[in-house]
Amino acid sequence: MRILKLPLEMRCLSERWRNQGLEVGFVPTMGALHEGHLSLVRESLRRCERTVVSVFVNPIQFGPAEDFGRYPRPLKNDIRLLRRLGVDALYHPSGRAVFPGGFATLVDVTGPVTSGMCAPRRPGHFRGVATIVAKLFNTVKPHAAFFGEKDAQQVAVIRRMVKDLDFGVEVVALPIVREPDGLAMSSRNKYLSPLERAVAPAIHRALRAGERAIASGERKPGAVLRSMLRAFATRPPLRVEYVEFVDAETFERLKILKGNVLVALAVRLGRTRLIDNLMVRVPVRGGGGKEKE
Ligand code: PAJ
Repeated sequence: MRILKLPLEMRCLSERWRNQGLEVGFVPTMGALHEGHLSLVRESLRRCERTVVSVFVNPIQFGPAEDFGRYPRPLKNDIRLLRRLGVDALYHPSGRAVFPGGFATLVDVTGPVTSGMCAPRRPGHFRGVATIVAKLFNTVKPHAAFFGEKDAQQVAVIRRMVKDLDFGVEVVALPIVREPDGLAMSSRNKYLSPLERAVAPAIHRALRAGERAIASGERKPGAVLRSMLRAFATRPPLRVEYVEFVDAETFERLKILKGNVLVALAVRLGRTRLIDNLMVRVPVRGGGGKEKE
């Protein structure tokens, strides 16, 4: 596995591959790799002839009170995992290589995809994400890039940006990988104390409770929310930041649940902020009160 630290080196390697007619797949990450990341890497290796993974803890997507400084950086282990899978190149630039003095350009995706959910609670976050992903796309020059549905709003932001700015990169979104007890894998799960970790599966249980309420015919977000909050009720270290019901395509907030609904939430467990979501297909009501798919 090649390890590249400079944008120019990375671009030259990728351009050489492209000139040889090879399909380049790309998995951007912030490292501290787990099975969720590795599922994206495996899919890129399966679909593409060359796979690049980036590990870069992007300072401009963290708010001033967030965890940039203490974000885990177990690089040696990440390298070992990527080598074992047969990744062709790791792009691991320094902060200065990516953001040299004088850097002054930001990519701002506006509209419904950044009007709700995490966007108002983490001002500037998606601008930081869109900017770094645009830069990474220009450096790695992939044909396809692989992202996790765990960060569903991030996927929507990237899709919008790729379309609006004509990147010509295929954006592939893959399912959330979970622990056996339902907790979505995340580099931030490492922050949880044993008590917080024991409470964390309530997040997925709440999403499943919401799914069941919808399956049993409930179409009002408020009522579905109440059944979800019951799953959280007796969990003191857990605070719900938001639960939102949006159209999975447009990210517009739904007043009545229909079509493909993304049930998305963020919670705080002690000092740790975790997000999760579930896509629910709401059956169309046919004549005579019967429901059809
Ligand atoms: P990071 O949090 O490291 O995640 C890298 C990729 O792994 C993202 O596409 C994310 O959605 C995916 N991922 C994380 N946990 C997952 C899980 N449990 N199942 C499936 N996929 C999962 O997301 C970022 O980094 C950054 O914002 C980045 C895009 C690299 C820009 O800095």
